[in-house]
Amino acid sequence: ADESDPTTADVLVVGSGVAGCAAALGAARAGEDVVVATKAERPKDATSWWAQGGVAVSRSNAEGFKRDIVAASDDTADPDAVDVLVENANEAVRDVLIETLDVPFDTEADDPDTFDYGREAAHGERRILHVNASTGRHVLGPFLSYLDDHPNVTLREDTAALDLLTREGRVHGALCEHDGDLDPIYAGSTVLATGGIGALYGRSTNPDGATGDGIAMAALAGADVADMEYVQFHPTAYAGEVATPFLLSEALRGEGAILRNDDGDRFMPEHHPDAELAPRDVVARAVAAERERTGDVLLDVSSLDFTTEFPDLATNCDERDVDHRTGIPVAPAEHFLCGGIAVDSRGRTSLDRLFAVGECSRTGVHGANRLASTSLLEGLVWGLRAGRTAAASGADPEIVDVPDLRDSDPALPAAFAAEKFTRLREVMDEFVGLSRSPSGLRRASAAIRRLKGEVDAYVRTRTSRELYELRAATVTALLITRAARENTDSRGCHHLVVTTDEPEVHAD
Ligand code: SIN
Repeated sequence: ADESDPTTADVLVVGSGVAGCAAALGAARAGEDVVVATKAERPKDATSWWAQGGVAVSRSNAEGFKRDIVAASDDTADPDAVDVLVENANEAVRDVLIETLDVPFDTEADDPDTFDYGREAAHGERRILHVNASTGRHVLGPFLSYLDDHPNVTLREDTAALDLLTREGRVHGALCEHDGDLDPIYAGSTVLATGGIGALYGRSTNPDGATGDGIAMAALAGADVADMEYVQFHPTAYAGEVATPFLLSEALRGEGAILRNDDGDRFMPEHHPDAELAPRDVVARAVAAERERTGDVLLDVSSLDFTTEFPDLATNCDERDVDHRTGIPVAPAEHFLCGGIAVDSRGRTSLDRLFAVGECSRTGVHGANRLASTSLLEGLVWGLRAGRTAAASGADPEIVDVPDLRDSDPALPAAFAAEKFTRLREVMDEFVGLSRSPSGLRRASAAIRRLKGEVDAYVRTRTSRELYELRAATVTALLITRAARENTDSRGCHHLVVTTDEPEVHAD
């Protein structure tokens, strides 16, 4: 970067999924200069791009929607946050997705003026707007194009935030890396929208870049995080040997698909009165248990007109030679972090001039388990609110000192990052997955601490993006493990299995 002309912005947004785009839109509409820095090189590197199900709205039954969110969370969702989400849902979707971006939501076959509202697990009624089962790309594509053309917004691709720039407890932007060079971006307000943590687990529905960057940067700068133990696993990701297990949307079960074990028996009715439409954490554990007991679990879509109603999913199956007519093998995969950087109803974190939105944030809406098709909505609602609030704060960018990071030995052993990532995933899969035990969590904690020590030694001398991603992943893994050790209440996604010979738990 040219140091005589540093990059400055009224509002810096880090991340370009739906939440980041909404924050940029909220601030840009208020007349602020916005820079969106994203490490992605293509839109599909954001998790939002991969979202299938859709965007839930309240329609005319806000109270029913609230009840479903709270019930899915096992009564742990924050009712005030749920009010904010639900009361703003219809308007945010109408304003941004329908009127501004013209997202082509599916309509009834015989009535193009009426939306075809879908249903998913734990929803008491049809309320989900969707585009086939590929809603994310149909929202994010137009969103990024719109912002690209917006005079107040600059999109900086392939630009990875490594650390927050702070002075006296206040955040002044982020130290970024672009094309191997350090590139500080100074901002009046900074909004983290860096998404989730899929890269911490062996099987995830997220893209590879979901390394927990924003959560780690915020926590290292001293921001509060909350609910980190609530890592949600999707029950039905393709179980075959593929690098990224593609999702078989909950919309399939919403429309009548059923789960069968290796003996061909339907098993969900024994686990929950709502069977396949039970909350996601319940279905994920039941699928894992049946796989262990009987072998493959198959999603039986024979009661659906699969290829006509879900053409994108049918294509996904065809491309991998999966014959959906005989049932699709499925297994749980990490999907969404319900906790994250603690924020208020406007996305403000505990640090001055720092906001967080979308999956990296913890609004309280999801509690211990998120209801399907509320994540794009949460990103949209909180993104707009945080962007507007950042704009209203009127904070001007200030140039602050940048840490003197230098590649004293630029030859980072590429194998180092890959090897440590593999180790981290093994530890998280074994001890901090769908079910946890106090002794397993203790072992995970010790192993991740050791890894973090090795990574930190490198971070002092090198600035490679991979290394910072690895640091983010180890810091985030430690936060998850610590929260899981401290919470002895088995709720939602945090499922503790305590055997009688378990030694007593001692949180750090
Ligand atoms: C799905 O389509 O099953 C995922 C929806 C979500 O995670 O909200």
